[in-house]
Amino acid sequence: MNLAIDQRRLLSEIEALARISEADPPAVTRIVFSPKDLEARGWLRTKFEAAGLEVRQDAIGNTFARWTGADTAALAVATGSHIDAIPNAGKYDGVVGVLGGLEAIRALQQSGFRPTRSIELIVFTSEEPTRFGIGCLGSRMLSGTLTPAAARLLKDRAGVPLEDVRRQAGMQSALESVPLPSAAYSAFVELHIEQGPLLERAKVPLGIVENIAAPASLQIFVQGDGGHAGAVLMPDRQDALCAAAEVVLAVEHAARFSGSSDTVATVGICDVFPGAINSVPSRVRLTLDARDIDLARRDTVLAAIENQARAISEKRKVSVRFEVVSADAPASCSSLTTDALMQSCRKHALPFQKIVSRAYHDSLFMSRIAPAGMLFIPCRHGYSHRPDEYASPEDIVRGTLVLAETLSFLSR
Ligand code: GLV
Ligand code: MN
Ligand code: MN
Repeated sequence: MNLAIDQRRLLSEIEALARISEADPPAVTRIVFSPKDLEARGWLRTKFEAAGLEVRQDAIGNTFARWTGADTAALAVATGSHIDAIPNAGKYDGVVGVLGGLEAIRALQQSGFRPTRSIELIVFTSEEPTRFGIGCLGSRMLSGTLTPAAARLLKDRAGVPLEDVRRQAGMQSALESVPLPSAAYSAFVELHIEQGPLLERAKVPLGIVENIAAPASLQIFVQGDGGHAGAVLMPDRQDALCAAAEVVLAVEHAARFSGSSDTVATVGICDVFPGAINSVPSRVRLTLDARDIDLARRDTVLAAIENQARAISEKRKVSVRFEVVSADAPASCSSLTTDALMQSCRKHALPFQKIVSRAYHDSLFMSRIAPAGMLFIPCRHGYSHRPDEYASPEDIVRGTLVLAETLSFLSR
């Protein structure tokens, strides 16, 4: 089998998709179900159909493009990732796994390979939490981790229910049709940029993921008392933002001194009410993103943050309330997929190293309904979620080649 990856076509498609964006280049912003996201979905569909793939979309907008294998009764092999992009992002996060997956299928088709199992390329809806506050919306629902009833409660930041947004985007059927059976695919493999610096530092072109760190996402509501910024004297204040500032520092401290550099915690959003220069803040909403490869340690850190917040609330006479949006367990990649990835690297004499994924991915949830694995390629300086995110053409092609080989092993 002679696998030839068409570098020119793949790179030009990555550039073309990057232009379907709400932000000016080089930044990419593509929020789920926005006009640009819908345009990008339409653009992708034509590419999938041109490759002879059978395309379907489910009720939450996950898109499945299938290359039917000889044995239609056998479980399919799947690959894929996401195309939504956070505000002011780059062009490779997720996209490399989607367009690389398409190119891998085209390379297999052109080589004359005919799969026994069908090969399905999946574009997951809203891997990023930007709009509905929860990451991996599509794969979370496919795996049954987020129930249709819980999904129906989700609203975007403007207060518009997910139900309305998805129906306006053309998805009419009930969310109950989204979850897949517990053994949905014979294997799932996701190609992705590393989003960290380790492969680049080690000068190793490929990373085979062993574990995906456990993410948790919370909202913290601080309620104080407002008033006139000139008239309320300092001893009388219950300033919600001052209390929130102490909570933010408590978050940093708890993660920093957890005993392991694998613990990370970030407050990325701070909404202040009423948000006027001459008004004492009465209400603040913070978001907290905490992760660790060790679930118990992550939860210990979360508990320490809550304890600290309680002390701050007493001292400052404000109330502090925590709301868990999601708290996921870590995932281990299956030996079926990691062995196939290693075999493929060896076949092409490509060096690889085992690696931990500190970012979360749709693979975290696909691992609940299929033996799952991930392949990382380096990205410059480890930059991601910023416009200067960059993966070299050579690395993208290498990753796509190994993905194609792996899909051939898994679909025989
Ligand atoms: C995914 O984008 C993540 O935040 O890890
Ligand atoms: Mn991302
Ligand atoms: Mn991603």
